[in-house]
Amino acid sequence: MLIEWSKELETGVEEMDNQHKKLIALMNQVYALLREGKKEDACNFFREGLLSYVEKHLSDEEEFMRKIGYPELPAHEKLHEVFRREVQKLHGSVCEGDVKRFAQELSFCWGWIYTHIAKADKKYGKWAKEKGVLK
Ligand SMILES: [Fe+2]
Ligand SMILES: [Fe+2]
Repeated sequence: MLIEWSKELETGVEEMDNQHKKLIALMNQVYALLREGKKEDACNFFREGLLSYVEKHLSDEEEFMRKIGYPELPAHEKLHEVFRREVQKLHGSVCEGDVKRFAQELSFCWGWIYTHIAKADKKYGKWAKEKGVLK
């Protein structure tokens, strides 16, 4: 397995933590397919599985922040725009079937996602907890 969820990434919002874990699992699955030489499957899975899940996650998260009245939503939405672009970039290398390039880009992207969750996502979790809006 290339990338791993860690306790450090826990936002305290159960649904979002679960979605982050699933996101990581999907990224690892793309990598596994590529490594097994299943280039076409990796490309299709990336498009149909991963990209749509990324979109689901980002919009669910934005919806959650809107629902709880999180004041930093606009800034967070801007970060999500970068997120979408970064993941799009991976698409090219998956579909060209370049395992090495994908692995490099994936680890770069993972660094970016890790930082995003550890800083920005955890921040809404903390805020929600302080405001007592979590069950
Ligand atoms: Fe997130
Ligand atoms: Fe986020």
